[in-house]
Amino acid sequence: QKIELSIDEIDKNGYEHYMLKEIHEQPTSIGDTFRGRISIDKTKIFLGGIIDVMPKLTQAKRIIIVACGTSWHAGTVGEYLFEEYARIPVEVEYASEFRYRNPIINQDDVVIAISQSGETADTLAAIKMAKEKGATIIGICNVVGSSIPRETHAGVYTHAGIEIGVASTKAFTSQVTVLTMMAFMIGRKRGNLYDDLYKKLIHELTLVPEKLEIILKSENYIKGIAEMYKDATNALYLGRGCLFPVALEGALKLKEISYIHAEGYPAAEMKHGPIALIDENMPVFVIATKDKSYEKIVSNIQEVKARSGRVIAIVTEGDETIKNMADHVIEVPDSHESIAPLLTVVPLQIISYHIAVMRGCNVDQPRNLAKSVTVE
Ligand code: G6P
Repeated sequence: QKIELSIDEIDKNGYEHYMLKEIHEQPTSIGDTFRGRISIDKTKIFLGGIIDVMPKLTQAKRIIIVACGTSWHAGTVGEYLFEEYARIPVEVEYASEFRYRNPIINQDDVVIAISQSGETADTLAAIKMAKEKGATIIGICNVVGSSIPRETHAGVYTHAGIEIGVASTKAFTSQVTVLTMMAFMIGRKRGNLYDDLYKKLIHELTLVPEKLEIILKSENYIKGIAEMYKDATNALYLGRGCLFPVALEGALKLKEISYIHAEGYPAAEMKHGPIALIDENMPVFVIATKDKSYEKIVSNIQEVKARSGRVIAIVTEGDETIKNMADHVIEVPDSHESIAPLLTVVPLQIISYHIAVMRGCNVDQPRNLAKSVTVE
């Protein structure tokens, strides 16, 4: 019997959409990002592409991250990790704002451009300008040989593999993986991380692929939650610390592909505005894994519940406290808090994907959006 398959079907490897395939590829793509860059005994990180600029990076007075869209969210996770471990001040800039603002840049600054495609016009223009002003430019890009890596002094490719879905998934987690490795490595070189902690952090990062496999196994359960909220007209996403950018990314994924209005907010900032929107029709996704702000986020969940909001919480496995408060919990394996962005974003990608499919949206090519924006 002859089975005929189109190139498209072969490419999708049995998945209904590229986005779903790319979500499921993340245990592999993250592994590909750190493979060869973490020693086999898991005690060292080696990023060959930035070795020449390491002195500049470790002594930088300031790191400026420039990016757009999902890559900007990855950069914002990077800001938290760099400040925590590398102890270098970081600013994260929308490339489009940065380039037109006459920013103050000097030779001690390191500018990191993050871009999946390596072709985003605003990001490219921003680094050209920063380079003219004497800054050291590092790229974190996915597409090898694209325009941004060709303009930089040094860089780290994410090696996530080709990403076709317009809504970025695996490129985001690979960008965060690179930033995490950089933060740990710079922290170590600057003497902020002692042996044991450094090794523990590296070890935690290497466990991400197997933890993601566990999360991906709960896809059907997550799809059941998607079914309950597919007709929502608005959604709120809350997180704190390095999980705040994950809230932004969760909201962006939902609006990009399902056309539901969604906003990401730092959980404590909710009381300064979005709390007014909360009623029994408002799904509130709270990223609430166990970390140093856990008690605070529990209070934020109570604030939402007191106003009859529907809480879908992403929690550390076994968390009974939040289970008793939230309408639904999605568990992720326990991990060090620096790793939590990589784990918690995945259930949010899955929810957005299924909501969009249930609403009949063109998931891989949402209206009005382009995979690569090469015009300003
Ligand atoms: C477009 C894409 C987004 C992407 C953004 C930045 O808006 O639809 O998915 O995050 O561009 O692209 P880049 O290739 O620079 O990461």
